[in-house]
Amino acid sequence: MIKTIEWTDSAVVMLDQRLLPVEEVYNSYTDFRGVAEAIRTMVIRGAPAIGVAAAMGIALGTRDSTATSVADLERRFQRICDEIASTRPTAVNLFWAVERMRRTFEQARPGGVSAIRAALVAEAQRMHREDVEANRRMGRFGQELIPDKACVLTHCNAGALATAGYGTALGVIRAAVEAGKEVRVFADETRPFLQGARLTAWELHKDKIPVTVITDSMAGYFFQSGMVDCVVVGADRIAANGDVANKIGTYSVAVLAKENGVPFYVAAPVSTLDLTLPDGSHIPIEERDPEEVRSVFGVRVTPENIGTRNPAFDVTPHRFVAAIITDRGVARAPYSETLRSLAGPA
Ligand code: MRU
Repeated sequence: MIKTIEWTDSAVVMLDQRLLPVEEVYNSYTDFRGVAEAIRTMVIRGAPAIGVAAAMGIALGTRDSTATSVADLERRFQRICDEIASTRPTAVNLFWAVERMRRTFEQARPGGVSAIRAALVAEAQRMHREDVEANRRMGRFGQELIPDKACVLTHCNAGALATAGYGTALGVIRAAVEAGKEVRVFADETRPFLQGARLTAWELHKDKIPVTVITDSMAGYFFQSGMVDCVVVGADRIAANGDVANKIGTYSVAVLAKENGVPFYVAAPVSTLDLTLPDGSHIPIEERDPEEVRSVFGVRVTPENIGTRNPAFDVTPHRFVAAIITDRGVARAPYSETLRSLAGPA
């Protein structure tokens, strides 16, 4: 299995996703600020992977702080949590992970400084293991929706690289293949960071799952030609009514799918649900550096200093979503009821 992120006693180790597929380089981070920067600059990306990286960064920074009293450690811990939480705004898994680390701190408080440090490290490692298990469960639920000999279109990268392993949308595809189905994949290239062309294509090719990369603007042509049987994408945050924030361009894919009578599925763990938000209009949308649009691999593709916008996510209204595949089962409309019951106590 591809190793996206790993905890070792000396460092948090991450595969540098900015360099794939040309180079496979693992970076070691020995300081929580390095982990925060890795999340911000997308060395690691994808909602569940960001959550695990956040937890590991918090564990690393708290373990290595010089604090000797619980009060000092707590001040340090709060600053680390705030810095990690400021890295990317849309993926709710980041904030879910920070909250979980806060709860762990509280539970371990009576044991003192060393018990707190040990509990945070153990919790970060547990979150890594649980994410892989959740993805495998999601895969088993989701693969039942994928017909044999299906051509599945996906957008961005919701694979092993976007999680602790196996993937959400690509986990569903992997599980369908493991169940003996023949599956082919169209991967949207996903401008501007090219997660589809670089990462989804790399992962699926490694697993010998047939993948064809298309530019984002070609998707409509293939839907219209009847060549897409279903869509499976991941999510960064899902509101209580089932509205889904995911990589910019997902909404366009969902509209095309509906227009062409193709089911549009979202695969995401319950840690991606944000039931505090009534609908998708409340989801914060990250706007990244315009330079990511002006240049491709350092080569300028627009006139210098031209105006550009770079929203990194969009929101697909729930009416376009045929089902939401989670690690606790498959939810269908009305999502305001089905998501709440799936998110209840495990
Ligand atoms: O900007 P990114 O690459 O972090 O965006 C990733 C996505 O939009 C994924 O589809 C989403 O996080 C789900 S990953 C399992």
